[in-house]
Amino acid sequence: MAFIRLYKDSDFGACAHICIATLPPSLASSPAAAKLSPYLWTHPYTFLSPSTCYVLDDGTGTAVGYCIGCPDVHTFVAYYSRYIASILSRDVEAPGFGVREPWIIPTNDSTSTGTDNPSSGQVNPLALAQNAYRADWMLLENKSAVTTRWRATMHIDLLPVWQGHGWGRQLIDRFVASVQSSGQDYGEGEHIGVASENSKVVPFYERVGFRVVEGGEREGNIWMVRDIPRD
Ligand SMILES: CC(C)(COP(=O)(O)OP(=O)(O)OC[C@H]1O[C@@H](n2cnc3c(N)ncnc32)[C@H](O)[C@@H]1OP(=O)(O)O)[C@@H](O)C(=O)NCCC(=O)NCCS
Repeated sequence: MAFIRLYKDSDFGACAHICIATLPPSLASSPAAAKLSPYLWTHPYTFLSPSTCYVLDDGTGTAVGYCIGCPDVHTFVAYYSRYIASILSRDVEAPGFGVREPWIIPTNDSTSTGTDNPSSGQVNPLALAQNAYRADWMLLENKSAVTTRWRATMHIDLLPVWQGHGWGRQLIDRFVASVQSSGQDYGEGEHIGVASENSKVVPFYERVGFRVVEGGEREGNIWMVRDIPRD
């Protein structure tokens, strides 16, 4: 029988697989971008904040879903160099930083001139690699309106056959409880950025206690927050 448990080191590969299997189209359509994705959105949390990372175990020891995150993005960024030293530099070659790479490479059929709209092109693997090495770009830049108030953040993904059975709600409840007991300053609660190409999940988040907020300055994301009361 499936059950929720804390992440352990042996879940590394399964969690990478879950991340890649649930990517939105702009990332899934580029094999290089897909391969890098867990190094931005999965492995940093499980390495630096394992006590706030939960997996859905299918009952055989295999992780088939997760809700992973940290209680305070500011503390997380301050310790990020440990992740670079232990995991990232082992698996992903450091890119050059002479030029800041655009997040999106426009496709030929694109009519948009914007560089941040995923619907107008493919994600640039070089930008992913740069962001993997720069947690401050990824987690703090142009987001102060949400990160100063709702300091926790998380990512949740379940393999398709495990979706729609109530596990998402239970995983988030476990994550929220772990944030409450973390002893870290999570401010008013947690924030998440939902890619606009994945806006179909907004009703799910609203159902489990999140609300959309104005004020996230970065284009291409819908910002949502969930208040987390003090214990
Ligand atoms: C989004 C996701 C995490 C939701 O998890 P889940 O296990 O399927 O959701 P649950 O079954 O726990 O649903 C929780 C509640 O939300 C509701 N819900 C789920 N999806 C919904 C939707 N699309 N619209 C409205 N309500 C929704 C459920 O009915 C349920 O309501 P209830 O508990 O009040 O009865 C999961 O479907 C998933 O991994 N999707 C692919 C990856 C992804 O998009 N991740 C988010 C990236 S931002």
